[in-house]
Amino acid sequence: MKNIVFVASECVPFIKTGGLADVVGALPKMLDKNEFDVRVIIPNYTCIPWEYRSKFEYVHHFYMDLGSRFHDVHVGIMKYELDGIIYYLIDNEFYFNGPTPYGDIRFDIEKFCFFSKAALAILPVINFHPDIIHCHDWQAGLVPVYLRTLYQYNEFFYGTRTIMTIHNLKFQGIWDIKTFRYITGLPDEVFTPAKMEYKKDANMLKGGIVYADYVTTVSDTYAGEIQMPYYGEGLDGLMRQYNNKLCGIVNGIDYEIFDPATDKQIYKNYTIKTLEGKKENKKKLQEELGMPVDENKFMIGIISRLTDQKGLDLVNWVMGSIIDEFTQFVVIGTGDEQYENMFRHYEWTKKGQVSANIYYNDNRAHKLYAAADAMLMPSRFEPCGLTQLISLRYGTIPIVRETGGLKDTVVPYNEFEGTGTGFSFHNYNADEMLKLINYAKKVYFETRPAWDAMAIRGMETDFSWENSAKKYQDLYYKLT
Ligand code: GLC
Repeated sequence: MKNIVFVASECVPFIKTGGLADVVGALPKMLDKNEFDVRVIIPNYTCIPWEYRSKFEYVHHFYMDLGSRFHDVHVGIMKYELDGIIYYLIDNEFYFNGPTPYGDIRFDIEKFCFFSKAALAILPVINFHPDIIHCHDWQAGLVPVYLRTLYQYNEFFYGTRTIMTIHNLKFQGIWDIKTFRYITGLPDEVFTPAKMEYKKDANMLKGGIVYADYVTTVSDTYAGEIQMPYYGEGLDGLMRQYNNKLCGIVNGIDYEIFDPATDKQIYKNYTIKTLEGKKENKKKLQEELGMPVDENKFMIGIISRLTDQKGLDLVNWVMGSIIDEFTQFVVIGTGDEQYENMFRHYEWTKKGQVSANIYYNDNRAHKLYAAADAMLMPSRFEPCGLTQLISLRYGTIPIVRETGGLKDTVVPYNEFEGTGTGFSFHNYNADEMLKLINYAKKVYFETRPAWDAMAIRGMETDFSWENSAKKYQDLYYKLT
């Protein structure tokens, strides 16, 4: 039996701002229970819904040293069991209160320095010796750093190996070295260019990458891309340097939550055999959104954080040409104000053709997965992407840019061979995207049987967690 500890800043169903939470919520459950005892450590944010918080059980508390900023900082340990997985929630109201998990970056940096150290410090207290500590994104970046420095002679961690998984290289946790010294108590050797130092500042993710025994990212293509300047976010050199301990493992999705045959949130369940059930979902959603009810409209969806990463400037450039009398466009998501307002603007100017749902609503997202004909993801970069995987599962054809996980999971349509599961374009270019959308429309309106066959091929592909979980298991064995 191997002991595995996940350390992350978010996890479904407790707290979610992005795909990271889905992965941390799903993967532990998919690991073989006879071989792995998995525990998950996340912060006990006061913004976790009360329905969960009220059930967390108090385990213990103690006081921890944290650099010269604090000598006795409170670390509470709460515990909760769900679907056979034990979650530990690190409690500290100074750091983890507020309406959202993240806010002011300076404070977030300190928050997650505390979190990373506390995640290690609670393990002897709960007496759980980890064979592997699996750290996710920059918020857990200091775990390997603390382990190999301040904790290196602590016998409790004898034999412990660490994995750093990068879900998004864009976010690294960078601040000046002086502050880091003050708030972490890490020794000077850490703040050198070969370790955490980055352009005169300190970089938490870099620390995680350097000190971890292994580094993974969430698709093969992204693992290659981040070794190149365009996608490397300033760390491409580092990624090349460490590429002998780097690999990509593509994410899966939870096939129980996302199943059009049983999904209780959609209007009508359907399968490969009853694909026309999608039409009913479309009509009901059109009604709900106040759009003209017509099953023959081509419905394009976007379900996404509305940020630069997601390629929304391309959409802005050609929106006027995407929308025509045969097309409807439905957006669900929140993010940068500029994109939120852009979609509000189009909803206003293209009444009945564009629906801008500028909030995240899980129920409406499920309904849109079921209703839409196509899902648009023109990302500038995409480490993995989950929306296209869910779309495939719901027979909704992804239209994507060939980058990262999108490239690895969507097979481009070939009209001559009758193969492929979606549409993809290569260059980050609005005209190229528009041409592809027009091609998709042509296939949809002129050769519907070919369209439906493609939807079915998508539904038949397997992006459940099973395969990916096996790869993580192999890695855990390889390292221990
Ligand atoms: C980040 C990435 C996304 C990935 C997710 C889960 O949100 O942007 O591509 O799917 O993490 O790994």
